[in-house]
Amino acid sequence: MRAKRGIGSAPLKGRRVLVRVDFNVPQDPQGGIADDRRIIEALPTLNHLRAAGARSILMTHLGRPEGHRDPRFSLRPVVHRLSGILGQPVPLADDIVGIHAIELSTRLENGQFLMLENLRFHPGEEANDPGFAAQLARLGEMFVEDAFGTVHRAHASTVGVPKRLPSFAGLLVEREIRELSRLTADVDRPYAALLGGAKVADKLPLLTSFCGRADIVLIGGALAFPFLAAQGARLGATPREEGQEENVRRLVDAARAVGTEVVLPTDLVVERPGSVEPETYDLARVPADALARDIGPATRARFIAALARTKTVFWNGPLGLVEDERFATGTREVLRGLGGVPGFHVAAGGDSARFVQELGAAGSFQFISTGGGAALEFVEGLELPGLAVLPDA
Ligand code: ADP
Ligand code: 3PG
Ligand code: MG
Repeated sequence: MRAKRGIGSAPLKGRRVLVRVDFNVPQDPQGGIADDRRIIEALPTLNHLRAAGARSILMTHLGRPEGHRDPRFSLRPVVHRLSGILGQPVPLADDIVGIHAIELSTRLENGQFLMLENLRFHPGEEANDPGFAAQLARLGEMFVEDAFGTVHRAHASTVGVPKRLPSFAGLLVEREIRELSRLTADVDRPYAALLGGAKVADKLPLLTSFCGRADIVLIGGALAFPFLAAQGARLGATPREEGQEENVRRLVDAARAVGTEVVLPTDLVVERPGSVEPETYDLARVPADALARDIGPATRARFIAALARTKTVFWNGPLGLVEDERFATGTREVLRGLGGVPGFHVAAGGDSARFVQELGAAGSFQFISTGGGAALEFVEGLELPGLAVLPDA
């Protein structure tokens, strides 16, 4: 993808700059911030704006409040954390585009920040309502897009505002484009996609996009179940998405036709009713009451050996039920094995990015995207509305 016009060339001093960030952070049960990585990754842009003397008006969504004010999704804990990190107060305009927001934005001094309350409290955000977009745009003189995680959404703040103001890509968005583009053009080969996770129907387009582009696709997690079933394997009592077998059979044929190798598990770690101890079985021997939870040791070794021969790896989706420590071994071992392989390794996906830290495997990756759906759509080669609207460099 072509580079976008960046903030390096933007006249920032003394200007009111609307900045779209993605501070849609995972929350703990008490509503606190469970992981502040998305805030930390926005700091290069925020520090640049501050140093350049911009008057920054930050905007983000949090969760899915669906157009209603819901205190569980207030940005209060987020501005509190951000103020601490920046070492200066960041006031919150709780009326988003009302009189309070207008007042606070006009009172900003050079190098100061203001945050608008959760954009999705307003129904106009997700509807990309022209009136709401115009109200947002009136708060600033220019727009900076740094919410990479949200550029796959055509909302008021990601498309409506940049259509109305001179717009620039923030440093995080530039970096995501630069790194993820290494997976879509001039890829260093062999190129492997390591895919897992749970939502089969959602992941099939991504998987299909690797046919002919990747040299090898390794499939684990619940994503592998329909592939195994299509081969005639019985997976005991494992629940799985029905109706996918024909689709995946076609996908495997298509991959073979264009020279992309598809590697599936040959053994599984299972859970059985009345037993806490996990058991390992070859595919042909899975008992009728077993629930498949992780890839087995033979599969692990095969995946690691296959990855050792590659130069570029894209990973999305845990290879097992990683929330349960008993079934995290497959993912942990494969990702740690990847750490010993020289090359360019990228991790993407909401859950994957979180687990890569928890499993102690962040060091196996040269780049961990802040995007979930956005990163997957980028790698799939789709047009992202929040990027398409920005001028090229
Ligand atoms: P991402 O958000 O990174 O794209 P997904 O949402 O597709 O990833 O998948 C993450 C989920 O997949 C995790 O909650 C994990 O427990 C689940 N998962 C992976 N393998 C299995 C399995 N064998 N059985 C049940 N759940 C699984
Ligand atoms: C994400 O976490 O993937 C982004 O913040 C977008 O959130 P959404 O899926 O609710 O649009
Ligand atoms: Mg997920």
